[in-house]
Amino acid sequence: MERTIFCLLLASFLPTVQPHYLWYSIILKGIVTPPFEYVRNVSYTALPETGSRSIVDPVFLRDPVHDYACNRGAFANAENTSIATLDAGEEFGIQAATGARARLDPIAPYHEGPVAVYLSRAPTGNVREYDGLGEWFKIGELGLDMSVPLNQKQHWLARDNEHIRFTVPETTPPGEYLLRMEQIYPWPDRNDTQIFVNCAQVEIVGQGGGTPAPLVHLEDFLDLHNPALSGWCTPDS
Ligand SMILES: *[C@@H]1O[C@H](CO)[C@@H](O)[C@H](O)[C@H]1NC(C)=O
Ligand SMILES: *[C@@H]1O[C@H](CO)[C@@H](O)[C@H](O)[C@H]1NC(C)=O
Ligand SMILES: *[C@@H]1O[C@H](CO)[C@@H](O)[C@H](O)[C@H]1NC(C)=O
Repeated sequence: MERTIFCLLLASFLPTVQPHYLWYSIILKGIVTPPFEYVRNVSYTALPETGSRSIVDPVFLRDPVHDYACNRGAFANAENTSIATLDAGEEFGIQAATGARARLDPIAPYHEGPVAVYLSRAPTGNVREYDGLGEWFKIGELGLDMSVPLNQKQHWLARDNEHIRFTVPETTPPGEYLLRMEQIYPWPDRNDTQIFVNCAQVEIVGQGGGTPAPLVHLEDFLDLHNPALSGWCTPDS
């Protein structure tokens, strides 16, 4: 059944060349915070095998695993990124932007695919010391609109959505965390699947008491061999 959905979807994919986007702000108490104030910026680096890249380019499954966490070069920006205070139980938003190095403009995600947010607690207690290679738990996701009948064009809830909001679970243990914002844009060939990912640095305050689960390592599911990441319509799937 799932495969049917994605085959329908893929039929509507057009391999276009267009600027991409990144998550450059979190929305706190309804306010879009300044670009990269709480979100780790990305480095504008050229990888030998792919050539020059822009900060809005996605991460691919062929990229090094540490890039899946918070995007290229993000850890180098940890020191220069502020830490937002989030109350457990509070709603927050995430904001995408597109453009070039010098100018980024807010935009609603225009790719297909699920958007999810994850938390990972800083092992030392200080999020600026954390590269994001530890354990993560998902706190929210916008997937397919299940009210659309299977025989109709499917609709991803995040697509063109200017109001992407999630809530920090009320019993999240207090502490400093990376807040990981991700959209996976699946392609028939897994090598082409695009991952739009950035991390905010947050301190969660509240009563605690919860035990987040399940905990995952990103490399266990963001893996070229994971058929769930595309391959839905490839001949060998
Ligand atoms: C983010 O990084 C890019 C290139 O790596 C740089 O050009 C830009 O000025 C940075 N933005 C901020 C707000 O630090
Ligand atoms: C962080 O800020 C300091 C002081 O403004 C600056 O010298 C340094 O280059 C910045 N580092 C990064 C990675 O942007
Ligand atoms: C996808 O990537 C894998 C691993 O890098 C490689 O072996 C394979 O040939 C690639 N497939 C295509 C169609 O490029």
